[in-house]
Amino acid sequence: ISKNRSALRGCYVTFRDNPFRVPAQSALVVEEDGLILMENGRITQCGPYAELAHLLQADIPVTHYPNCIISAGLIDAHVHYPQLSAIASWGQQLLPWLEEYIFPTEARFADPAVARAAARIFMTELLRNGTTTAAVYCTVHRQSVDAFFEESQKIGTRMIAGKVLMDRNAPANLRDTAAQGYDDSLNLIHRWHGKGRQLYAVTPRFAMTSTQEQLEQAGALLDQFPDVFMQTHLSENTDEIAEVARLFPDCTSYLDVYDKAGLVRRRSVFGHGIHLDEEALHRCHAAGSTLAHCPTSNLFLGSGFFPLAATQSPDRPVHVALATDIGAGTTLSMLGTMAEAYKVSLAAGKERLHPAQAFWLATAGAAQALNLEDRIGTIAPGMEADLCVLDPYATPLLAYRAARCDSIEAQLFPLMILGDDRCIRATWVAGHEVHRNHSLPISRDS
Ligand code: GUN
Ligand code: ZN
Repeated sequence: ISKNRSALRGCYVTFRDNPFRVPAQSALVVEEDGLILMENGRITQCGPYAELAHLLQADIPVTHYPNCIISAGLIDAHVHYPQLSAIASWGQQLLPWLEEYIFPTEARFADPAVARAAARIFMTELLRNGTTTAAVYCTVHRQSVDAFFEESQKIGTRMIAGKVLMDRNAPANLRDTAAQGYDDSLNLIHRWHGKGRQLYAVTPRFAMTSTQEQLEQAGALLDQFPDVFMQTHLSENTDEIAEVARLFPDCTSYLDVYDKAGLVRRRSVFGHGIHLDEEALHRCHAAGSTLAHCPTSNLFLGSGFFPLAATQSPDRPVHVALATDIGAGTTLSMLGTMAEAYKVSLAAGKERLHPAQAFWLATAGAAQALNLEDRIGTIAPGMEADLCVLDPYATPLLAYRAARCDSIEAQLFPLMILGDDRCIRATWVAGHEVHRNHSLPISRDS
């Protein structure tokens, strides 16, 4: 009987610890010639090839990736699949950008055929970029959620997604009501949360587009389903922050709007969180909430520099995960996103983002932030077999640069600064190859 077994051989990197807590280099595990054995979608064994090769039975196919670096699949903690076609829209900061480009784009998702086509293209692009898990915003239309989860379910990816809730300050064709938003979300939770690898996130767009009543209904859903996620936007843009203060005069801060509605919890993912004071950071720490750091988006919309070092203060560290925030973000590549996070770290303060920290924020750290660290984010026995195979020699320039690196560790920084989808040689989901870069060679043992 086939037990769906396969194996990857090659150098792999993963984490034994948090590189923001211990010296970054010592948090990283590098297995120079490793073997990863997979069975029924999970990793069963991993370690040095020399020690594990005897476990390879003749019927187990081994894919060998010489001169590559295998990582846990990359995680994108905040992305809007319906906005992919509006990427690279010119000339506006957040609020006029939403009005001019994003709302008209999202309105098209009333048509389920538009949603299905977009979900297919989005998933293909994610996998081409080595991303195997994402926290995804759909649109206000419940069919946009079905379209997305149906596509993810077909591939077998672990995805978090939800219907956007918006009951004010948006065009009529994009508004729900507090009651309708609640009912739709409840139905979608029943339909999708925990089905296969799919996970639901209650998704109020942001404080400007939801009434107090709608935010409270979102909180009520989370009370009923404590392992459902919550995602929204927080303190991204100064005009937005001023408007939220005007709309919620009784709240002491932007975060307090969400807190009063019961939305600040573990498994709550707040996009951006650029302009937060000490009190808000402390509240996020105490609640175990996550800030999604979206550097390409924050630069593209001129929103500001995320204060990563401040969020990692040892007395109240806040969970942070990297994110693209497409369509305000300018790439779906988590490598490209790491590059911009590095540049922002230099611009924003004194702590320079170490490459091990950058990879942590897109793998094990993101998994921990999402409370999924027992399933994804590291390469270890029992973990779900989601992997991406990085090629530090993928382009002539990368190869020229990598030739001057004297270790695998040293290759990570040029890879994240210069790398993109061209460096993703293959992506594996639940033990199956779901993407292969045909412009790069592959060799199969046995
Ligand atoms: N704030 C509210 N909605 C959005 C969105 O779609 N993108 C970004 N970047 N910020 C938002
Ligand atoms: Zn966003």
